[in-house]
Amino acid sequence: MLKQDNYKNTAYFQRRSIRSFVDKEVEEWKVKAILEAFFNTQTAKNQQGWEIIVINDKELMQKIRKVHYYGRALETSPVCFIVTSVPNYNEVLKSPKRIEQDLGAATHQICLMARDLGLGSVWCGVYPTEDIEKPIKEILNIPEDVMVFSLVAVGYGAEEKEPNDKFFPEKVHYNGW
Ligand SMILES: Cc1cc2nc3c(=O)[nH]c(=O)nc-3n(C[C@H](O)[C@H](O)[C@H](O)COP(=O)(O)O)c2cc1C
Repeated sequence: MLKQDNYKNTAYFQRRSIRSFVDKEVEEWKVKAILEAFFNTQTAKNQQGWEIIVINDKELMQKIRKVHYYGRALETSPVCFIVTSVPNYNEVLKSPKRIEQDLGAATHQICLMARDLGLGSVWCGVYPTEDIEKPIKEILNIPEDVMVFSLVAVGYGAEEKEPNDKFFPEKVHYNGW
């Protein structure tokens, strides 16, 4: 249980976007741990409408980097996770309108787990930017009716950042606006 003097030593605060990585593989068990964290994300109506692609091939990583114009992190990341919906999500899910919320929560879960494993990560948005999503689909042979929501570059960080410590009391409302 966290206490008043140590709750900031948690991934919620310590996680930062890391965009450069040292040349070191991520251990298999850590990749598996991240996948498990991903699959244990809460989802609307427990619909679990996600799938995920692990990229650990350097050439493929650079192909994706070329089409993701905000994906500088992919230049050095040893592994990246591409978060997608299931095929045909509009027809098969109980709550398709909530799929983006589900996939956002799952993406954040990857980043938090990475931090807890001593890894750096950065969430790179894909959906709804068509000119990023479409070429990624082509490169990876992803079916047309799948939403490619995000990708998360992961590795051992080559940069250190201060923890986040934001708090905006003026944006907090109690019992009404
Ligand atoms: C929806 C979303 C999309 C993002 N897309 C990118 C991206 O394409 N490339 C990138 O380097 N960072 C991206 N980021 C990371 C943000 O830039 C970063 O979280 C923000 O600057 C705050 O920094 P911090 O994560 O270190 O707290 C994205 C974050 C979110 C939540």
